[in-house]
Amino acid sequence: MSRFPVAADQDIVVRVRDPEAVCFDFLIGDPARAGRGLGGAMIAEFCRQVLVVEYPDAPRFLAAPDARNHRSLGALRKAGFEQGWWIQPEAADYAEVTCTAPRGKFGPDGSTLGP
Ligand SMILES: CC(C)(COP(=O)(O)OP(=O)(O)OC[C@H]1O[C@@H](n2cnc3c(N)ncnc32)[C@H](O)[C@@H]1OP(=O)(O)O)[C@@H](O)C(=O)NCCC(=O)NCCS
Repeated sequence: MSRFPVAADQDIVVRVRDPEAVCFDFLIGDPARAGRGLGGAMIAEFCRQVLVVEYPDAPRFLAAPDARNHRSLGALRKAGFEQGWWIQPEAADYAEVTCTAPRGKFGPDGSTLGP
């Protein structure tokens, strides 16, 4: 899992139009463990245990998988993310789908954090 504030990359700021968000990427390293329903829980726990703690001022978390990556989009949906803009980064060979969730979805023990 990697992460960085959207504001750290002006190209991404322009494309996703959410400079206050924190962007992250994810991967199940062992291919034998992919496709078994772990992805959604992994993303939700990463948001809860890492992003909420490391980025106390970020109102939203954002990931942008390749639009053809249905498994990644499904895992994000299961973690509580909603799809928004389709974007076309210069370095990417296909459109990406911005998926966003408010930090409030990731309170301790699954509870909702504040407004
Ligand atoms: C992306 C990744 C983390 C997802 O985790 P996962 O555990 O494999 O995903 P899941 O098995 O939980 O699938 C998530 C959902 O996607 C959907 N889904 C899975 N395969 C699908 C397919 N081929 N077509 C459409 N939907 C699909 C399902 O709704 C599934 O939910 P379900 O288990 O309730 O049926 C993992 O597959 C991975 O590491 N892939 C390689 C790297 C990668 O693509 N990273 C993302 C970069 S943005």
